[in-house]
Amino acid sequence: MSVLDQEPVIKIRDLIKTYGEGTAEVQVLKGVDIDVGRHEIVALCGPSGSGKSTLLNIIGCLDKPSSGTYLLEGEDVANYDRGAQANVRLRKLGFVFQSFHLLSDQTAIENVMLPLQYAGVPVKERQGRAAEALARVELQDRMDHRPNQLSGGQKQRVAIARSLVTEPSLLLADEPTGALDSRTGKSVLQLLEQLHEERGLTVVMVTHDVEVAAWAHRRIALLDGKISA
Ligand SMILES: Nc1ncnc2c1ncn2[C@@H]1O[C@H](COP(=O)(O)OP(=O)(O)OP(=O)(O)O)[C@@H](O)[C@H]1O
Ligand SMILES: [Mg+2]
Repeated sequence: MSVLDQEPVIKIRDLIKTYGEGTAEVQVLKGVDIDVGRHEIVALCGPSGSGKSTLLNIIGCLDKPSSGTYLLEGEDVANYDRGAQANVRLRKLGFVFQSFHLLSDQTAIENVMLPLQYAGVPVKERQGRAAEALARVELQDRMDHRPNQLSGGQKQRVAIARSLVTEPSLLLADEPTGALDSRTGKSVLQLLEQLHEERGLTVVMVTHDVEVAAWAHRRIALLDGKISA
């Protein structure tokens, strides 16, 4: 085991996130401490409004904490500027959003190719890798469909293919099985498990589903802005 293997992928200390100002101020995260080790699969659970998406967005470098520290593989990414954060996302992170965030005027394969374009991958390689990622989520016959021509579950799988196409070391997923029937949901979990075994992918996912939570290696529960035991 190298030193890097022992260092947590995610190390969060006394993280606070406040929205709004003055009388409209709401403290959503009230001092959160989390460590996630390399190759872990962690389920983030908690009632609606408890701050799960807020926390995942901060971990995913899409938002910044109001205070506290967040180290991603030892990098103080919370204090990076927007450009540097975007770079971290391209190098290390895959993100599956609660509401997919697919571009409606682009086909499935174009959506999946997009992060590779940002990463400067040549177009031929982009096409090959995107097609492969779509095949892994069993959408090889829907590559040229636009989001409005796809079912909810198919859109979710396109979003998963897009998050994995850059081969991230950390996958963050907000309800990755939320829009799927139980069979398709299971096949998504199997895919994550395979990637975990093949490449040691670390996964943090928000879920309301007790079966999905039970499948994870470890569960972290958020309650009223804090981690509950
Ligand atoms: N941009 C924002 N401005 C103000 N308040 C916000 C903002 N985003 C989220 N909140 C508030 O923060 C709280 C936590 O929201 P968050 O989306 O993190 O919850 P969640 O645990 O993901 O819930 P769900 O399970 O319903 O997705 C909510 O009370 C919400 O109203
Ligand atoms: Mg949420």
